[in-house]
Amino acid sequence: MKIAILPGDGIGREIVTEAVKVLKALDLSFEMEFADVGGVAYAAHGHPLPDATLKLAKQADAVLFGAVGDFQYDNLERHLRPEQAILGLRKELGLFANFRPAICYEQLTHASSLKPELVAGLDILIIRELTGDIYFGQPRGRRTASDGHFPGADEAFDTMRYARPEIERIAHVAFQAAQKRGKKLLSVDKANVLETFQFWRDVMNEVHKQYPDVTLEHMYVDNAAMQLVKAPKNIDVLVTGNMFGDILSDEAAMLTGSIGMLPSASLNAKNQGLYEPSHGSAPDIAGKGIANPLATILSAAMMLRYSLGKPEAADRIERAVKKVLASGLRTADIYSEGTRKVGTVEMGDAVVAA
Ligand code: NAI
Ligand code: MG
Repeated sequence: MKIAILPGDGIGREIVTEAVKVLKALDLSFEMEFADVGGVAYAAHGHPLPDATLKLAKQADAVLFGAVGDFQYDNLERHLRPEQAILGLRKELGLFANFRPAICYEQLTHASSLKPELVAGLDILIIRELTGDIYFGQPRGRRTASDGHFPGADEAFDTMRYARPEIERIAHVAFQAAQKRGKKLLSVDKANVLETFQFWRDVMNEVHKQYPDVTLEHMYVDNAAMQLVKAPKNIDVLVTGNMFGDILSDEAAMLTGSIGMLPSASLNAKNQGLYEPSHGSAPDIAGKGIANPLATILSAAMMLRYSLGKPEAADRIERAVKKVLASGLRTADIYSEGTRKVGTVEMGDAVVAA
């Protein structure tokens, strides 16, 4: 088995180093190969996703990714910006299903933006479709309006679209994930206003016929945004499109206290996957040794479970993280009075020891 390790920019290197340490401590036999991605790759090779990096990612069974992006690259042309690396990897590897768990650890309920009783024991799995929707729909662009409310004015437009097979494949992934959990799936759409999402709802209902053991519920996205802060524990597995998933998964992340705790997985049809923390490169704290490495360590656990066929090893990592939290160690982002503040390396060491 081969893992491509792409640390990237900002805190990427610091947090990935800790996850690699944890992987090595498991004593499993896999090969790890490192490559540049993002701003560091642009600086060294003139492109955020160099051919060699892409080749390695395609050959590997899984990719462990840190984060990309930094202010210093903000003025580059769009296709050279670090963030293009992650979009390019998703596209080239055919990653269409984004898994974002939002788990509120027992010891961290106080760090949530909600009352502890609303989030204690929270464990939601958000599944976001990654390849379609308004983020990739064509045509898009700027032009002079020929109709609408302001004919003759400059305007910009994007296109929201989903093809049946695109909805079907994410539906299957979501129903199967629900089968492995609480047998309850919530599909979030905007079928009352958007034709794209009436179609989404229709296809979800059709695919549902193949999963009679799972209960399917539909909800409009505005209501889902409310329910996530009103009664989040009623939600088990939530599936939605690219844009709504982008927003709702960040909202759900805040229920758990810190984005520094949240892993993610992006899978293709062959269960090849890219695993990364849900957060970005955190340039504001990069190089200070204070970033929380747990989201990346937990992403490595998801990698073992979903792409490398080592669920026991994944369980071991997750248990070790809980043990470390129970022992009172905290990075700054999850620190509270009465606990012990540690840096990135010390947190990684503690997980290895546990
Ligand atoms: P961010 O997630 O990097 O940071 C948001 C806030 O959370 C910051 O205050 C940061 O210090 C904190 N934070 C993030 N991860 C943390 C950790 N592990 N431990 C402790 N604190 C943590 O989002 P932001 O600031 O919007 O973006 C920064 C850069 O990251 C941008 O260039 C953006 O484009 C990029 N980005 C990259 C992503 C990726 O590589 N997949 C995803 C999101 C943003
Ligand atoms: Mg986002």
